[in-house]
Amino acid sequence: MAGKIPQDFINELLSRIDIINIIDAYVPLKKTGRNHKACCPFHDEKTPSFSVNQEKQFYYCFGCNANGTAITFLMEHLHMGFIEAIEDLAARAGMEVPRDAGNTSDANIQSKKLYELMELVNNFYLEQLENNKNSKTVHKYLHERNINKEVVTEFQLGYAPPGWDNIVSELGKSDESIKNLLSIGVIIENDRGGYYDRFRDRLIFPIRDQRNRVIGFGGRVLDDGVPKYLNSPETPIFQKGRELYGLSQARKALKNFNEIYIVEGYMDVIALAQYGIKNVVACLGTAATAEHLEKMFRITNKLVFCFDGDTAGKKAAWRALENSLTLLRNGRQVHFIFLPDNEDPDSFVRENGKESFLSTKMLVPLSEFLFNSISQKINLEILEGRSEMINKTLPYLNKLPPDPYKDIIVKELSKITSYEINDIKNQLSKAIDLNPKTINKKNSNTKQEKGIEKIRWLIRCLLHQPKLALNVNVTNSLSSIESPGIVFLCEMIGFIKKNPDITLAGILENWRDTKFQKRLFELASDENEFKEIGVTEEVFVDAINGLIVGNEKKFETFKTKKSPVELTEKEREKYREMQKTSEN
Ligand code: UTP
Ligand code: MN
Repeated sequence: MAGKIPQDFINELLSRIDIINIIDAYVPLKKTGRNHKACCPFHDEKTPSFSVNQEKQFYYCFGCNANGTAITFLMEHLHMGFIEAIEDLAARAGMEVPRDAGNTSDANIQSKKLYELMELVNNFYLEQLENNKNSKTVHKYLHERNINKEVVTEFQLGYAPPGWDNIVSELGKSDESIKNLLSIGVIIENDRGGYYDRFRDRLIFPIRDQRNRVIGFGGRVLDDGVPKYLNSPETPIFQKGRELYGLSQARKALKNFNEIYIVEGYMDVIALAQYGIKNVVACLGTAATAEHLEKMFRITNKLVFCFDGDTAGKKAAWRALENSLTLLRNGRQVHFIFLPDNEDPDSFVRENGKESFLSTKMLVPLSEFLFNSISQKINLEILEGRSEMINKTLPYLNKLPPDPYKDIIVKELSKITSYEINDIKNQLSKAIDLNPKTINKKNSNTKQEKGIEKIRWLIRCLLHQPKLALNVNVTNSLSSIESPGIVFLCEMIGFIKKNPDITLAGILENWRDTKFQKRLFELASDENEFKEIGVTEEVFVDAINGLIVGNEKKFETFKTKKSPVELTEKEREKYREMQKTSEN
């Protein structure tokens, strides 16, 4: 596959297809008012909150916040990669996808090389599992652990043979390839400037991302050696806090997820898969981060953490609880499975079978885990104990977003402690006010922040009504304003002027894979704005002019109220800059 797909082509493609037809083929839509509606394919629900807007070529779910363009839909719902989604849409529109090799950014070329190299390394390990003269030991190991051929194939388990220079001599034939092998972490430089293989005589677990690209490896010793596992270090293409081992395979195996099980180890994912439980991922030896959780909540509403039955497992479960509280809204649920001591999901499923593991009797809901953990050492018979219970629980309740779930938990705490619901609510709102961060935030609502807020509003208007940009003729004065977001706003106005028929989807796709993507999709799917923003040209142009006038006033203050000697160095610099732009 040659270079990057030109943005103009993506714009053209988006203008030729209709998101309604694309989505309707997978999720039958019903027209209601301006929007088309359906039950959301990204979470479980009985009444439709998934809404697709034809004019904007954008979808949004009021229940789970899933949102995006036709391209996003194919990526998220059908698990396609970006290129694949473009190719799919192009085929429907009868268009040929061009590649503008000249325009591909260096960073893109470089990371593409790293992904390709990863694939070669992976193929090498796969090949060694079949053909290496020492591979008997690893086959014996797999046999002893009862790991069958099907999962070995499904998860592409491989073998890093013994020896220090297998990878270098196989794939490190030029300086550049050595540099890239170092960069993906499969070889390590020694003191004498030589190189050696990171993984030696280990069973290899390739780690894939959501787009099914190999991004890292885990390697297990075949005996009792230490360390038991070696993992790829963080590299330009591998960040542990983001990736989930097994997700790519799970998405391949399943269309829909009722829930996702999160386990600790590679072997747990493999064993459960072997027993037909495919909706399982592992967090790569770290705590589940908010990013991990968000990723999974986009796929399903119910997460089940299943950790080993030891102290470390309990601690990991508590961290998972803490990290998930802020995300619990719109029917999202978190449950825990606590296995007996010295068991992990791997050993448990082998001993007790699939049904036992999946039995709902195993599940401890988050609320129960929370209350039980806190009340463990508290005597709720006495009122001192009950007040201790309230005080210890409030900080956790405070993290819950406003949602019926929060109300029910408050009610339960009230039941446990015989403390009135309204009094708990009172304490909660007090606790929020005393939070130093929020106080600071309130006081720091400065002019600058108001300015940023205004720019954000303008950007949001343009997303929803791109045509508003066509009347802006003051981009020069606008671009001289010094405020975060201005450069972006001007760029967006320029972009829309060049593409006067662009839709919301077209704008979003223009900034895909940039640092603005996340923010823009958020602004695009802000619930109220999505309903209808309805800003008139006058109001919009007035707001733009307001920004410019405000800026000029600042300039006047500099000019008249202070002599240059009174200015600080920073102000002087700004003054000079302003003079420069006003001369242009
Ligand atoms: P476990 O020790 O529970 O691994 O560690 P496991 O998958 O059950 O392995 P077996 O059954 O003993 O073969 C859980 C996870 O923690 C990370 C790995 O990701 C592992 O799967 N880990 C563990 C390491 O990174 N390094 C280690 O030395 C140990
Ligand atoms: Mn294990």
